[in-house]
Amino acid sequence: MERLLGFREFYPEPLPSKDAWSADARTHVFDQWRRVARQYGFREYDGPPLEPLDLYTAKSGEEIVGQLYNFSDKGERQVALRPEMTPTLARMIASSQRNYPKPIKWFAIPQLFRYERPQKGRLREHYQLNADIFGEKDPAVDAELIALMIDTLRALGLTADDFVVRLSSRNAWQDYFNSRGGKAEDTYAFFQVIDKLEREKPEVSAERLQAIGFSLEDVQRFIQEARPTEELGSILSNLSARGLGSFVKIDYNVIRGLAYYTGPVFEAFDRVGELRAIAGGGRYDNLVKLLSGGKVDLPALGFGMGDVVLMELLRSRGLLPAFQSGIEVFCSIEDEVRRPETLALVQALRDARRTVEYPITPSKSDKQFKRALELKARWIVQVDSAGVKVKDLTTRQERVMSVADFLALAGGTQGGLSTLVPLTPSL
Ligand code: HAM
Repeated sequence: MERLLGFREFYPEPLPSKDAWSADARTHVFDQWRRVARQYGFREYDGPPLEPLDLYTAKSGEEIVGQLYNFSDKGERQVALRPEMTPTLARMIASSQRNYPKPIKWFAIPQLFRYERPQKGRLREHYQLNADIFGEKDPAVDAELIALMIDTLRALGLTADDFVVRLSSRNAWQDYFNSRGGKAEDTYAFFQVIDKLEREKPEVSAERLQAIGFSLEDVQRFIQEARPTEELGSILSNLSARGLGSFVKIDYNVIRGLAYYTGPVFEAFDRVGELRAIAGGGRYDNLVKLLSGGKVDLPALGFGMGDVVLMELLRSRGLLPAFQSGIEVFCSIEDEVRRPETLALVQALRDARRTVEYPITPSKSDKQFKRALELKARWIVQVDSAGVKVKDLTTRQERVMSVADFLALAGGTQGGLSTLVPLTPSL
């Protein structure tokens, strides 16, 4: 039976085919995401993958609502698989923020579902690093969040030659809109045209702008000038002070598709411009208030970084490490009489956090040796009357010692096996 279109399977390396997805690569990316988020003082949270449909219909905007994976459950509740994390998070914050000192800095790595037409960089499920900050209005916090976004990409080996953060602001566009006499009821339509500017034919955008009293030439001039507002200027100088200035540029083509953004917005793209956005986010100062029915009013900002485009970029730049499987110890059993003692040794080694395998059913010694090589074992160990025979498969040297001595080495915190064997095979 085939898997559903737009859904992935993740395999351990070595991969069964060229286009298969690697579970090892996914772990590698998640590990870096987690590490850098924690270094920035973010705490991990999670929420339900299935939510009431209403959570999205009012707050996320048309684009995401059109892509919802929704259905009626057996209790006839209208539900949807989460297409993004932000509404769940805003609800969690609205109900629990009193328990946490501000600003609240949280991250999550949810799997998200969007019923999109599957294409390069876009699937029907993906994972997203979400990092969000609540309770601070100062642009210094926008800079802190953008720095985190840059550093997670740098942690994966990407440089300023590989990607750029395009920084913009809904406030800048709102000022533009007001200064040209835009009518309040046309704001959403105007933002929609700007959002689609790079993907739409110029004559279509020109016509749509004209219908609400704007000219494409004037809009394009504003984008080309790329003059930072005071708020964006302060974000840029904050990032420059950290030495991250070369990773960011003002780009008013970015306005973000989601409805809830209110201030600075940004997206990370590969420099070549051949892939879709790697990450996107911005300020959404009104969402917590909206979701709490006005009870809680907290400024907020955050971003989402998807794994699909990122993985394509890392692969194309050769930045994924060579993943090695491999165990530490293979306990062979030549004489079945030794099985109970060997099982005890396997257990003791695993208690000592060693990666251990052994012949689960009786098998010939040459087969066991072959299996140990297949598993890329570092050591073969065999229990016999004299204690244990320990063979280092890289040097082929053998030593005989008592089980107790061997376990002392294997579990030893000082030296011991850990000086001879890497503690865990470098995965
Ligand atoms: P978004 O721009 O919709 O933002 O998604 C963020 C990133 O997730 C995109 O840049 C892209 O890399 C990835 N992504 C989105 N949809 C797909 C898909 N169908 N297949 C593969 N990758 C995808 C949000 O979701 C906001 N909630 C982010 C945010 C958090 N804003 C504030 N806090």
